[in-house]
Amino acid sequence: MATFSNLFGAISIISLVLTLQLACFASAQLSPDFYATTCPNLRGIVRVAMREAIDRELRLGASILRLFFHDCFVNGCDASILLDETPTFTGEKNALPNRNSARGFEVIDTIKTRVEAACSNTVSCADILAIAARDGVVLVTRRTNMGSSTGPERRDNRKPSRRKHPNPLPILRPPGPHLRLRRQRPTSAHDMTALSGGHTIGFARCTTFRSRIYNDTNIDPNFAARRRTTCPSFAGGSGDDSLAPLDIQTPNRFGNDYYVDLLNRRGLLHSDQELFNGGSQDGLVRAYSGNQNAFYRDFADAMVKMGNISPLTGINGQIRRNCRVVN
Ligand code: HEM
Ligand SMILES: *[C@@H]1O[C@H](CO)[C@@H](O)[C@H](O)[C@H]1NC(C)=O
Repeated sequence: MATFSNLFGAISIISLVLTLQLACFASAQLSPDFYATTCPNLRGIVRVAMREAIDRELRLGASILRLFFHDCFVNGCDASILLDETPTFTGEKNALPNRNSARGFEVIDTIKTRVEAACSNTVSCADILAIAARDGVVLVTRRTNMGSSTGPERRDNRKPSRRKHPNPLPILRPPGPHLRLRRQRPTSAHDMTALSGGHTIGFARCTTFRSRIYNDTNIDPNFAARRRTTCPSFAGGSGDDSLAPLDIQTPNRFGNDYYVDLLNRRGLLHSDQELFNGGSQDGLVRAYSGNQNAFYRDFADAMVKMGNISPLTGINGQIRRNCRVVN
């Protein structure tokens, strides 16, 4: 039970600081209650829509979390990932990491429509995505830890942890598609190891882990064999899109099993296993695998940092009416 209260503690921290960050997004004004008068029902609207979405498909919590990550790591959290491409606009939706992969846009559309109906021209898409991602994690966690019943909002007055990351390591060792992302951002290896715990929920397509299960050596052979049964070695067939859970143990529980997987060389993605492969992050992976609360605390902490990656200047000020198109 201690685990529960600590998780909610961590989640409350996310909640707390995302809220603060919302204020930053929305204007230079710093107030956690930024929308309190202009859109008092905002949180409720987002929460209800996220609950509906997750009731429909549990995976959507993971999908929205990933959208938020991809939004923030490209030019800051500016909701640019939500923009549809047009003949004259090349957006992010078809960029390699997102094509056929980023999902959950309809959920954000639904939320935006409802928010516009309640308080038009007030809440940015970036803020909506941030709150939705937070809620997704909370709802998935509650559902999988406690069943579908929802208790009263739990609050926790712990302050955000003030742990220091004095020497941001620019990158983790091996090259890979994610490396570019990592290099662009002032996020420490420690933070990235905690954030990668986002892979405690959700699924990946065969194309993203094929070479790992056929060619990597730092993989549990039984695990590889099991994954090969639904992910054929050849590309181009229908097997390309077959899904496997990022966390083989509990794909719908937001916990620390992901790190236990890594210890057992059962990371699904090559990039996952790199976190535990004789490198600088081994100790931290070990620590999270044995201490879920440490993971929750650091994940919340790193999510807040991620949410604070600010958009480039010059594109501020717009509240899109439709998240898919610039006004
Ligand atoms: C650091 C480098 C990262 C890499 C290389 C990476 C890579 C991937 C890949 C390849 C997939 C599968 C996509 C597909 O099959 O279409 C995936 C899924 C996912 N990622 Fe990451 N990821 C990274 C970091 C993160 C972070 C920081 C988060 C969140 C905090 C995150 C959350 C997720 C989630 C929740 C899914 C499952 C989405 C779903 O089921 O719809 N990832 N990631
Ligand atoms: C495994 O590696 C070999 C040699 O580099 C390559 O030809 C083959 O396509 C790879 N297989 C997969 C499934 O990635």
